[in-house]
Amino acid sequence: MNIVDIITKKRDHQELNKQEINYWITGVIEETIPEYQTSALLMAIVLNGMNEEEIGNLTESMMHSGDVVDLSGIEGIKVDKHSTGGVGDKTSIVLGPLVAAAGGKVAKMSGRGLGHTGGTLDKLESIEGFNPYLNQNEFIDVVNKVGCAIIGQSENLVKADKILYSLRDVTGTVDSIALIASSIMSKKLASGSDAIVLDVKIGEGAFMKDIESGRKLAKTMIAIGKHLNRDVRAVLSNMNQPLGRAIGNSLEVIEAIETLQNRGPKEFEELCINSAAIMLTQGKQVNNYEEGRELALETLRSGKAFDKLVDFVEAQGGNSEQIKNTKLLPMAKNSLSLKSNKTGWISDIDALELGKLSMHLGGGRVKASDSINHGVGLVLGVHVGSKVNRGHDLVTIYYDEDVLPKQRIQEAYACFTFSDEPVEVQPVILEMID
Ligand code: URA
Repeated sequence: MNIVDIITKKRDHQELNKQEINYWITGVIEETIPEYQTSALLMAIVLNGMNEEEIGNLTESMMHSGDVVDLSGIEGIKVDKHSTGGVGDKTSIVLGPLVAAAGGKVAKMSGRGLGHTGGTLDKLESIEGFNPYLNQNEFIDVVNKVGCAIIGQSENLVKADKILYSLRDVTGTVDSIALIASSIMSKKLASGSDAIVLDVKIGEGAFMKDIESGRKLAKTMIAIGKHLNRDVRAVLSNMNQPLGRAIGNSLEVIEAIETLQNRGPKEFEELCINSAAIMLTQGKQVNNYEEGRELALETLRSGKAFDKLVDFVEAQGGNSEQIKNTKLLPMAKNSLSLKSNKTGWISDIDALELGKLSMHLGGGRVKASDSINHGVGLVLGVHVGSKVNRGHDLVTIYYDEDVLPKQRIQEAYACFTFSDEPVEVQPVILEMID
C-alpha cells in the first residue's frame, strides 16, 4: 500500500477501504507519512467527502490511535454529553450533578477553552482546590461514589486528532462534516461512555451556522455511533445568542449554581432538562423521554441536584463553601453596566463577538499557552426579544484593568441589534434526532 495511491483515489472520488484508512492514520502517528501528504489527503476529503462507511472506519482508526479509557469499573450505563461549542455554555456543570442525582452515571472528560469558546475545566477551576487531574482509579471511585466526575482529557487520548487538527487549522481543512464528526466522535468513544448526547449548536456563535449543516453533522455522528455500537442521540440547539446570561469562568459557575438552585435563566434550564431527560432514558433510569423530563425536573426542584453539585465538588477536592456562598468565588475588581441609548426590541445578540470580548478581558485564551483570569466576563441584562427602554441595562462587563478601554465598550455596544417591532423568538431546542 502507498499513500500516493490513497491520495489519488480520494482525489478521484473513490471510496477508501478500512485498510487504507488504517494505513494512513498509523502513518500519521508513527510519523512515517509526512505532513504534506496528510494535508493533501485532508484537502481531498474536504472537497470530495466520505461516505458513512469511510467515516466510521476513520473514527475507529483514530479512536485507537491513543489510550482508550476503560470505564468497566463503574457500575451501570455510563452516559456522556458533548457540545460542539458555544458561548456561555456551562451545561456540563449542571448536567453532571443533575443526572447523577437522578441515578445516572456521568464520567466526563472535558477540555480547556481556546478562542471565543470557554472550556468546562477552566470554569471548574474557578473553584479553589478543584482537581481535574484525578487518575483513572480515583476517577472511577468518584463516579461510583457520587455519580459524576469531570476530569481533563488524557494527553494520550486520540493522538491522531491532535496532529490532524493542527494541520487542518493551517491548511483550510477544518470545515468538513467527515473530519469534524470523526474528530469529535473518536474522542468521545475513546473516553469510554456507553451512551452519548450530542448538543449540536447552530448559529452565529457556533461551528454550524445553519440548521441543515447541523442536522447533517448530527446524523453523521449518530451513524458513527451505530457503526461502533453506542447509543448516540442529538439535540440541535440555538446559538444565535449566548446561552444563559453569563459569559466568563467564575460568572458561569455562579449561573450554573443558580440554575441548580432553580433561579437560572429559563431557556438554559430547558436545555439542561432536555439533555438530562435523554441521558436518563439512555441510562435506563426511565423508560422514555417524557418520564426523563419528569424525573429531571423533580430532581432539580427538590434541591437534590444542587446537593449533588456540593458532593461532586468536594469529591474532587474543591472548596464547597464557594458553592454555598458564591460571593467567595473569584470576581473581577471592577464592573461597568452599559445602558441602552435606544428604545425598541432586541433582535440579535452577537454571541461570537461577546465570546471574543470575554476572551480579550482575560477570560479566555488567544493561544493555548495563555493563562486565564477566572473573575472577568460579561453578564447580559437582555436576551433576544426583550423590550428595552433608554437606560435599560444591556450588559455588565466585569474587568480587572483600572480603566476599561473605550474600544471594549464600543465592541460590547455593537453586539446588540435593535428592531422597532416586536421580535419572534426562536426556541432553544430546535430539533431532536435519534
Ligand atoms: N471540535 C472537534 O473536536 N473537532 C473538530 O474537528 C471540530 C470541533
